[in-house]
Amino acid sequence: MSKIIVQGGKQLSGVIEVNGAKNSALPILAATLIAEGEYKLDNVPDLKDIRTMIKLLQTFGLEIEKIGEHSYKIINTGVSDIEAPYELVKEMRASFVVMGPLLSNLKKAKVSLPGGCAIGTRPIDFHLAGFAKLGCKIVLDQGFVSAEASELVGNKIKLPFPSVGATENILMAGVKAKGETRISNVAREPEIDDLCNFLNKMGAQISGIGTDELIITGVEKLTPCQYNIIPDRIEAGTFIIASIITGGSLEIAGVVENHLGGFIKKLEKMGVEFEFVGDKIKVKANLEKLKSIKISTEPYPGFPTDLQAQTMVLLSLANGNSEIKETIFENRFMHVLELDRMGANIKLDGNKAKITGPVKFNGAEVSATDLRAGAALVLAGIVAKGETIINEIHHIERGYENLVERLLLVGVDIKKV
Ligand code: UD1
Repeated sequence: MSKIIVQGGKQLSGVIEVNGAKNSALPILAATLIAEGEYKLDNVPDLKDIRTMIKLLQTFGLEIEKIGEHSYKIINTGVSDIEAPYELVKEMRASFVVMGPLLSNLKKAKVSLPGGCAIGTRPIDFHLAGFAKLGCKIVLDQGFVSAEASELVGNKIKLPFPSVGATENILMAGVKAKGETRISNVAREPEIDDLCNFLNKMGAQISGIGTDELIITGVEKLTPCQYNIIPDRIEAGTFIIASIITGGSLEIAGVVENHLGGFIKKLEKMGVEFEFVGDKIKVKANLEKLKSIKISTEPYPGFPTDLQAQTMVLLSLANGNSEIKETIFENRFMHVLELDRMGANIKLDGNKAKITGPVKFNGAEVSATDLRAGAALVLAGIVAKGETIINEIHHIERGYENLVERLLLVGVDIKKV
């Protein structure tokens, strides 16, 4: 089992570059199931989750070649299978997002039910209700969900909650549906905009991008294209926190300022100042003067749940009592016990975490319980006194490409063993 070992207390400097967004690349890769022909995708991060999606697409008959560090050529010569197996969906819940593209292309799909995961039960009822509204007959049997329609027909669909995955899946199912599909209360994450822009480049007619209602006029045919994935705002946020907690000398490149809205606003309230020059961001913060704050995770443009764990490290270094209310997932505080073992003072009360600072982190042996929890432990390790050993790092590798190598280059004393 690999581990990450960090010796805390080093000064960071230089520039760290943000890679392409995992959560954009995954549905965009899935969307290549919709139309036959040759695609080129650039700025795709080299991650375990991406490799899982590629394996899944290959089981459906797509030919995929890595043609550059972050570029892929994808050839769809016709989808030969419609079943997404348990082994791959269990590896990564986001695999479920192949259902919409398969329905769009072949009007049938069979995908293993994703089941629960470390951060909550994460049902797929909104996805299925959306497919049903487009005319699909849905059958759940032996751990699989099958959907089939003689014809997909546009409809009005209102999501009970702005779910990212359901928005993407229904959107992709709807691009070739007959007539107009209106999906309201959709997620507005930048990754949804990216998927819409990709589909429109293929010839789809989607309007309302960036608003809470997407209007899709069904088209007969889509055509493959070349596309550049947007930068990963969660990776950017993680590195921004690394910079703040180590004195601000680390610059972060490849950031889209608009994508960081809710996150930046909260950090400004703590007393952090940001300077954007082009796609680079510099932070200025006096750690000793950072103020405590209250945060509630919200759908975009609110504070992202995917930066909740990492922000807890920052709040542990601020003065006074902070609070984070997690409203998106019911079980996303597993990093708290690990952070407390490193010296944090965080108490849980239902879906709220009360964080008392400032504390001094001490190195310890800890385990990453999920992707973002793992990133939080790396951040704590960077400022901790002594050595931090992080186990279960396969979680971290799902979402951060070459994290150890990249942090090493900017001065972190870190290694993978
Ligand atoms: C996506 C992101 C994930 C992020 C999350 C919220 C990807 C690959 N993953 O996950 O990193 O943390 O958005 O920003 O993009 N829900 C239902 N029924 C459904 C669908 C969702 O009840 O059919 C609930 C979920 O249990 C959860 C909430 O809605 O409580 C939000 O989930 P959703 O936005 O769908 O998250 P994901 O798409 O799984």
